[in-house]
Amino acid sequence: MTEYEEHLQLAKKLALAAGEIIRKAYHKPSAHVSFKAPTDLVTETDQQCETLIMDAIKERFPQHKFVAEEDISQGKAKEELGDDPTWLIDPLDGTINFVHRFPFVAVSIALAVKKEIVIGVVYNPILEELYYARKNHGAYLQARGEEKKLNVSTTNTLKNSLVGIACGAEIGRSESDVFLKRLDAVVAQCRTWRRNGSAALDMAMVASGKMDLYVEKGIHAWDIAAGSLLVTEAGGVVDSIDGSSFDLCHRQVVTCNQELLALFRLDIK
Ligand code: IPD
Repeated sequence: MTEYEEHLQLAKKLALAAGEIIRKAYHKPSAHVSFKAPTDLVTETDQQCETLIMDAIKERFPQHKFVAEEDISQGKAKEELGDDPTWLIDPLDGTINFVHRFPFVAVSIALAVKKEIVIGVVYNPILEELYYARKNHGAYLQARGEEKKLNVSTTNTLKNSLVGIACGAEIGRSESDVFLKRLDAVVAQCRTWRRNGSAALDMAMVASGKMDLYVEKGIHAWDIAAGSLLVTEAGGVVDSIDGSSFDLCHRQVVTCNQELLALFRLDIK
């Protein structure tokens, strides 16, 4: 089998299985919610999906490491990447959307080897859209019985751009105000902007050319790991907002095509 194909197939299978759990819970009248903070929620479904995904990976690859959202929130691991094969997992990205039955939720699974993402899967179980990529083999969307190769948009002006903007749940009001102020010129010039509530899907939207640029401060590695490979395999760039060298664990991201990135850099303060 081609390199990492087995890992990709496992990640796709687990994303679909976790997606099935999410879809069923989504259509039930209410979800059991706990609060990490007023805007940072966790449901039984997040935990159930993470256990399902991690248990299956541990069984197949017992030596592999994990950077998984609920595991880390409970203090069982740290948000850091070493050289060992490491799975980055957000079992339910867009938990607030899930709780409100806003259909923009996803399972996000990626594998990093020597700190480089080699496979990435993002699955929206409500819209039944499966996005996936393998390093050097392109990014694809499987949905409605078809498979399409993904390409980022070729939009080369902000005035024609649909932009996604978000701030992580743990970013306080004053820090997010400062961040949004820095984006004033971008917001003023772009066609319009969105706050979709799932970073993994925001990345998938950029990879598939539906959204032109997405920027977030306060993001976590598990939210964007799989999406980052979707974007780069679709011909786009994933970078830090401030121009420092990009690191998945540095809690910031901007992603788009190369031309828009240059314009974004001119306009962000
Ligand atoms: C959140 C979503 C949201 C992003 C936050 C993430 P969660 O993930 O991706 O879009 O703005 O930074 O924490 O908590 O729903 O898994």
